[in-house]
Amino acid sequence: MGARSSAIRAIDVFCGIGGLTHGLRSAGLDVVLGLDSDASCRYAYETNNAGAAFLEADVRDVRFADFESLYGKSRINALVGCAPCQPFSSHTRRNGASDDDCGLVDEFARLVGEGTPDLVSMENVPGLAKHQSFSNLLNFLIDLGYHVDHGVLDFHEFGIPQHRRRLVMVASRRKAAALPKPTADSGRVADFIVGLDPIEAGQSSPVDPAHACLPLSALNLERIRQSRPGGTWKDWDPALVNPCQKRSRYPAPYGRMRWDAPAPTITTQFCYYSTGRFGHPAQDRAISVREAALLQTFPRDYQLVDPDAGMPIAKLARHVGNAVPVKIAKLIGSSLMRASAHA
Ligand SMILES: C[S@@+](CC[C@H](N)C(=O)[O-])C[C@H]1O[C@@H](n2cnc3c(N)ncnc32)[C@H](O)[C@@H]1O
Repeated sequence: MGARSSAIRAIDVFCGIGGLTHGLRSAGLDVVLGLDSDASCRYAYETNNAGAAFLEADVRDVRFADFESLYGKSRINALVGCAPCQPFSSHTRRNGASDDDCGLVDEFARLVGEGTPDLVSMENVPGLAKHQSFSNLLNFLIDLGYHVDHGVLDFHEFGIPQHRRRLVMVASRRKAAALPKPTADSGRVADFIVGLDPIEAGQSSPVDPAHACLPLSALNLERIRQSRPGGTWKDWDPALVNPCQKRSRYPAPYGRMRWDAPAPTITTQFCYYSTGRFGHPAQDRAISVREAALLQTFPRDYQLVDPDAGMPIAKLARHVGNAVPVKIAKLIGSSLMRASAHA
């Protein structure tokens, strides 16, 4: 996949393993560079996005002029980015994220100001919408003359087999920019994760190192055996129930997904059966990294693990849970193409 002849040359700041880049490229943008401070994203980013280079760097040390010296000033006309969202998630804010953690959105705004590219886009958790950093970014873009559209989208309305609400912003200096409109197709788990080798808790597939899941304790194995798809701990023998589950308002932890419904939000913790409804609909285990990637709408052949280096499941899960689903990234890319004077 690639878009080498596109008139829109883009840089993906905070690129991770490339969910956003991959979708934008399939919409026709030429994403030439992804920047991320985590070197372990390089393999998946470069292997699956031929022609896009991975720059391992802290965004705070990078200037737009650095991109210009690599590609020439007239040639970078889009800056996209998905800053780490933990500082703005309701969970993290309850647990005391400091405002210092929120400065990476300000760094993204700084790069926009330095380069004033024709097109800008970002994705983040809905909590960012209430934060000063987001108001500052919007005001900054408007003062620079950009046309901006933004809103919280439920990605399930765009054919993604998950309930995943995210703040999306698109901006263009030349034409009105508009967010993607919901699509007619709905997403169900069954349409995305069938046809893989059956594996047991703690195993990986011999043909796909990313089709791997964490082991379960004897207690959790018994719990998942007694769980029905879409059910709760109320399905279990009372002896298996932890007293705090009875007091909790959240029945999903230790739950199994249903085949005929969307999955819950694929978080960075999906590999732990205890953290949400991350049990496989039919097998007695949490979903594998490959299954999570498919629910994030990565193509089935997206290479996640360097066969020479390997990667712990929890780290892979963080990369996959952090990603922008490829399908929504493609729709955002189409919006940017329409908003481009060159499209
Ligand atoms: C939400 S993830 C991005 C996901 C990515 N857009 C995708 O679709 O796969 C945020 C990324 O920001 C990176 N990051 C965190 N702090 C950073 C920094 N100071 N400079 C550059 N990258 C950083 C993390 O390593 C992580 O990969």
